[in-house]
Amino acid sequence: MADQGSAQVLVASNRGPVAYTAASDGSLTARRGGGGLVSGLSAIGPDAGALWVCAALGDADREAARRAGPRLDPEETGGQAVRMLDIPPGIFADAYGGISNSVLWFVHHLLYQTPIEPVFDADFIRQWGAYETYNVAFADALAQEADDGAAVLVQDYHLDLVPALLRERRPDLRIGHFSHTPWAPPDYYRMLPDATAAAVLRGVLGSDRAAFLTRRWADAFTACCADVLGAEVRDGSGEAGSGEPSIVYQGRTTRIGVHGLGADADFLRERAHRADVTERMAELREQVGEDRRTIVRVDRTELSKNIVRGLHAFRQLLTDRPEWRERVVHIALAYPSRQDLAVYRDYTATVARVAEEINADFGTPGWTPVILHVKDDFARSLAAYRLGDVALVNPVRDGMNLVAKEVPVVSDAGCALVLSREAGAAAELSGDALTINPYDVSQTARALHEALTMPPADRAARTTRLATAATALPPAAWFLAQLNALRPAA
Ligand code: G6P
Repeated sequence: MADQGSAQVLVASNRGPVAYTAASDGSLTARRGGGGLVSGLSAIGPDAGALWVCAALGDADREAARRAGPRLDPEETGGQAVRMLDIPPGIFADAYGGISNSVLWFVHHLLYQTPIEPVFDADFIRQWGAYETYNVAFADALAQEADDGAAVLVQDYHLDLVPALLRERRPDLRIGHFSHTPWAPPDYYRMLPDATAAAVLRGVLGSDRAAFLTRRWADAFTACCADVLGAEVRDGSGEAGSGEPSIVYQGRTTRIGVHGLGADADFLRERAHRADVTERMAELREQVGEDRRTIVRVDRTELSKNIVRGLHAFRQLLTDRPEWRERVVHIALAYPSRQDLAVYRDYTATVARVAEEINADFGTPGWTPVILHVKDDFARSLAAYRLGDVALVNPVRDGMNLVAKEVPVVSDAGCALVLSREAGAAAELSGDALTINPYDVSQTARALHEALTMPPADRAARTTRLATAATALPPAAWFLAQLNALRPAA
């Protein structure tokens, strides 16, 4: 292993801690990457000494990766050691936009709408080849950078093949895989072409330990391994060692773990009291108007987030309960996501259209029922968290949903949480949230009414308890738990 590297701890994910944008003069600016995975991993901090391997997501990232050589400039990454892989654009588009976001994401979030989708044809075969190439690029880089016996934490569905590929290259490493999404139940998972369904599971089973955000997703993965691969499942009760369930396949054992990523209270509370957030609060209050209640939501504009049904539920509230007209405003912050995919662009357009329709049908000269902001703005998200009376978090399915956990931590006066039972966060928060079936628009409308009429003392008490539950495993502890669980049994 002549060319082996020196990193003791490595993290691998598609999206890295920074994303670059290029100005017209060619200069590059780095800013923090978005999404729950980056929020969780960013708390690792440079002091942990981990090397983060990620992909260049666009032309500006590619340029930064080329200029930097193997490692990005630490000044631009907050001191974090980052190697950004310059994957050829065509391969990246098929691996990320194709297999990762249009196939695996859709399967795990149960988003396919038959009879139109899915279609596994020649395009799929080409994309699958790209997904393999892309995973090989990560495995090669990790194999090259890792020190003898190092721990490698591979993150999410973009990199499902990496654990097995890396084990072939470096059997000395301790390899973990973490899924930030739900996992599909076997009947749905089996929609994938047979060879793909098996390859994805085998890839993840190349790890020493595969971990998930909730027990529900871990159980679904285990069920797929049994169903598709015929793997043996052990419940962990009879074993010496970790006591965790495990999967035995082709003579190797992979342990199955659960770590429910929590909100970062210290970071959020400090950040939420900076001047830019206070300014955004004043702007939003101005838009909302005097003496009105607010229902807030903050999401990537993502099909699984169920923003359109949320808007329909708000419309239903105004229809069924006319007393709320003029008295409540729905602040919807829906930031662009995956706009390279037509289905996301269409969804974004539908969100805007439905919001406009509600405003046209119900609005008055002094009252705009829906305020929709589509420009990504973290300060405005925190402002909405602080001032919201009600938060609507209604995904059809979600690995965790950090918004549900961040709102109670940041809320100024208490915020009632209307929460989908299909979000991973519901496993920890359902006691004090108003839980809903995300497909049931009428039930969601009723829950919004109940949330708006909740006595303030009850709302505040629930928010305090929600904040405690939401911060049980903050990101730094979540990361350490993954890492410690990989250490060989004493
Ligand atoms: C989810 C995924 C992450 C991803 C994030 C943002 O949280 O689990 O892996 O980074 O969405 O999506 P994007 O495609 O923009 O990286």
